[in-house]
Amino acid sequence: MRYMEIVNITLDSVGSTQAFAKENAHTYAKDKITCVSTKEQTKGVGRFHRPWLSPKGNIFATFYFTLPKDSLHLTSLAQIMTLSFAEVLCNNNLAPKIKWPNDVLLNNHKCAGTLCEITFNKDHVDVFLGIGIDVNMSKEECAQIDKPATSLKVETGKDWSEEEILKALQEQFAKDLTLFKEKGFDPFHSKFENLMAYIGEEITCFDGEKEYSGICHSLNSEGQLNLCIDGDMRTIFSGDIENK
Ligand code: BTN
Repeated sequence: MRYMEIVNITLDSVGSTQAFAKENAHTYAKDKITCVSTKEQTKGVGRFHRPWLSPKGNIFATFYFTLPKDSLHLTSLAQIMTLSFAEVLCNNNLAPKIKWPNDVLLNNHKCAGTLCEITFNKDHVDVFLGIGIDVNMSKEECAQIDKPATSLKVETGKDWSEEEILKALQEQFAKDLTLFKEKGFDPFHSKFENLMAYIGEEITCFDGEKEYSGICHSLNSEGQLNLCIDGDMRTIFSGDIENK
């Protein structure tokens, strides 16, 4: 099968690949994936506007592409990228878990996060799908992050090539996006659920407004979290979970 072509824009240093891609998207091809990556960021941003530590030796990339406005399950796009990266790790004999919705964990510590921003136009949407991967970050640098964090280097004791990992991710994502465009989240559901951390465990979930406590039950067919609260099932569309 032919997958979407990827155009690479490679920078040495930038505030944020996310902001750079948004500023320049009007010049990017609408029928391709444009991947803006950089060696370092001086103003990296994470979900909920948190800062994203972005020193050299790691991967910072934003994938820009367009989709029809009526595409299925647009809100689960970040989860597709999360799964693509988890697959790359599995192919490298690592055993990732996914902390719903978008964090990739190794050894229960976060090594990657994704951020999806979508702008709506008349007939299509512009998607800015960012991923930050801690590749060669040292233990000391990981310790500067406010939540338990790790890197491929910390976990394996060896240096990794950022270029090779990014290339493998691009290939996997181009494949996954093709399937997603055709069928939505459905074909990814069981793979994602099987990799999910904390299933059956007590967690808290902050949805941006309110914090819920319950049992992390399962994933619904669109990628949302089924949280069991005092015997009742609540669907959480997006949020931040923590195990107790
Ligand atoms: C998260 O909070 O887990 C998401 C982190 C996303 C970070 C990436 S790094 C590349 C892109 N540029 C940014 O400024 N943020 C995203």
